[in-house]
Amino acid sequence: MRSPTTTCLKESVIQSQAAQRATRRLFCALLGVGAALSMANAGADETLAARQAASWASSCVTCHGSGAPVKGSSIPMLAGRSASEIEQKMRAYARGNTPGDVMQQIAKGYDEKAVARIAQWYAQLKPQASQ
Ligand code: HEC
Repeated sequence: MRSPTTTCLKESVIQSQAAQRATRRLFCALLGVGAALSMANAGADETLAARQAASWASSCVTCHGSGAPVKGSSIPMLAGRSASEIEQKMRAYARGNTPGDVMQQIAKGYDEKAVARIAQWYAQLKPQASQ
């Protein structure tokens, strides 16, 4: 015959195992939520960064167009050009190494990080014919 103590001990072991399982399940669920949240956060960061880049680039769009050149303008299009070429040209304007009517002034207004983001934004655009 089992003593009440043995039964109680067994039950408490069973309970603690169940509790452990529950804790593990909760922990796993939380890990999952954490991972999902951090992924969502990374997505939000990327969206924010993309919006920031598009916002910086919007000041170039007036003259350089976005995907297509500005109608009737002879200002070169930047869409689809390599990011490093755009960055290099911007650096040269900012240092006064390339003559320009407006770009020397404009290029001075952006730090390297902003120029890199704008250049990436333009590089990923597909160039189209003027509409
Ligand atoms: C007011 C109009 C105007 C705006 C705004 C403008 N640009 Fe320009 N960009 C020009 C002109 C005009 C040139 C030709 C050089 C010159 O006269 O300064 C040029 C040339 C360039 C070139 C060299 C193109 C080549 O083929 O050699 C790059 C790169 C460039 N701009 C990048 C930018 C970026 C990036 C921005 C936004 C931060 C910007 N530009 C904003 C008018 C503009």
